Amino acid sequence: MSRTQLNLIAAACENMGIGINGTLPWKLKKEMAYFTTMTTSVSDKKKVNAVIMGRRTWDCIPIKYRPLSNRINIVLTHNVDYVKKQVPEGVIVVPGLDEAIDHIDSRSDIESTWVIGGSSIYKAAMEHPNCGKIYLTEIQKSFDCDTFFPDINKQRFHLVNEEEVPGEKQSEGDINYYYRIYKRL
Ligand SMILES: NC(=O)c1ccc[n+]([C@@H]2O[C@H](COP(=O)([O-])OP(=O)(O)OC[C@H]3O[C@@H](n4cnc5c(N)ncnc54)[C@H](OP(=O)(O)O)[C@@H]3O)[C@@H](O)[C@H]2O)c1
Repeated sequence: MSRTQLNLIAAACENMGIGINGTLPWKLKKEMAYFTTMTTSVSDKKKVNAVIMGRRTWDCIPIKYRPLSNRINIVLTHNVDYVKKQVPEGVIVVPGLDEAIDHIDSRSDIESTWVIGGSSIYKAAMEHPNCGKIYLTEIQKSFDCDTFFPDINKQRFHLVNEEEVPGEKQSEGDINYYYRIYKRL
């Protein structure tokens, strides 16, 4: 039995868009810092967290920021042998979500697991029995997007108020947003 709980983390705008042309539709410095803090923080300082992402999301991360620091980076692709040659040593390349979970289960140094996109990886993680929570930054504005967060099944996921994230409205420039958590029933 796997002990790995998958937490999703994403920022989506009013039309549930998450990306355009291989990048983010907005520039939100504080929100990016929130992503870094949430995915990096550990309570056991001897451990690290894992981030699971699709190959296109990996490609979207500026070279100077990847692999994402202080986290085990796991990239999903159908072309494992090819992608393995493209990524730095230490980045784990696997052919699917179950293989990512198997890898995490096989290690004792990983505390939390964060699924960081994109669309199909979020969908697979939401439908997976190991799914726990969705940390969704809800941006109160519409942007042109070509990539979207999948529908959240509100029968299975409920909005919760947890003190681990700030509940009040966040603002950067003319953009307002909220940090929300949806928990699987
Ligand atoms: N706002 C946010 O929070 C957020 C978060 C993440 C990403 N984004 C944005 O979203 C966009 C990228 O996301 P995306 O949805 O286009 O791509 P993605 O999910 O990151 O990557 C898709 C790729 O992942 C691999 N893949 C997908 N499902 C797989 C499976 N079941 N098994 C094995 N491999 C699998 C395939 O790689 P191969 O083609 O190599 O086989 C596929 O082409 C960018 O615009 C990015 O900026 C936004």
